[in-house]
Amino acid sequence: MWRLARDSGALDLNTSYAYLLFARDFARTCRVAVADGAVVGFVLGYRRPDEPETLFVWQVAVDPSQRGRQVAGRLLADVAAGARFVEASITADNTASQRLFARFAAERGAPLERAELFAESDFPDAGHATEGLVRIGPLETADH
Ligand SMILES: CC(C)(COP(=O)(O)OP(=O)(O)OC[C@H]1O[C@@H](n2cnc3c(N)ncnc32)[C@H](O)[C@@H]1OP(=O)(O)O)[C@@H](O)C(=O)NCCC(=O)NCCS
Repeated sequence: MWRLARDSGALDLNTSYAYLLFARDFARTCRVAVADGAVVGFVLGYRRPDEPETLFVWQVAVDPSQRGRQVAGRLLADVAAGARFVEASITADNTASQRLFARFAAERGAPLERAELFAESDFPDAGHATEGLVRIGPLETADH
C-alpha cells in the first residue's frame, strides 16, 4: 500500500508504519487487489468511532497499469458492503476519484453530498489543497 501510494502521483504519502497499523487494526475496512502475486490496488478506511454506520474512505489507489478496469470500483463496493453511509476525502481536481464515488452512488441510487472537510489553512504544512468531503447515503443495507 505504501509503495502504491508513493507511486500514485496523487496521494499524500503516509509513513509505512501508518499503513502497517491500518493493516493490523482496520483490516475489516481495508482491501487490497492482487494480480500475479503483487498488490496492484488498495482502499484504506475505517468506521467512524462516533458514527459506526459510516465508512470513511481515506485513500484509494490503483497501479497505473490496472486503471480503468473497475479495480477501485470493485474494492470500494466490497469494503462498503453493510455501511449505511460512505464518506471520502477528495480534492476537487481529482477527476478519476470524483467519478469513482459518483458512480458508486449512482449505481445504488443514493444521494451524494459535497462539503468541505479541511481547508487549506487547516494544514500546518504549506501547499496542501483543500480536502473536500463526499458523503454518500443512506445506502440500502440488510437491516434497512
Ligand atoms: C482514482 C483511482 C483509484 C481509480 O482507479 P480505477 O481502478 O482506475 O477506477 P475504476 O476503473 O473503478 O474507474 C472509476 C472511474 O474513474 C474514471 N477514470 C479512471 N481513470 C481516469 C482518468 N485517468 N481520468 C479520468 N477519469 C478516469 C473511470 O472512467 C471511472 O469513471 P466512469 O465510471 O464514470 O467511467 C486511480 O485513478 C488512482 O489510483 N489514482 C491515483 C490515486 C488517487 O488519486 N486516489 C484517490 C484519492 S483518495
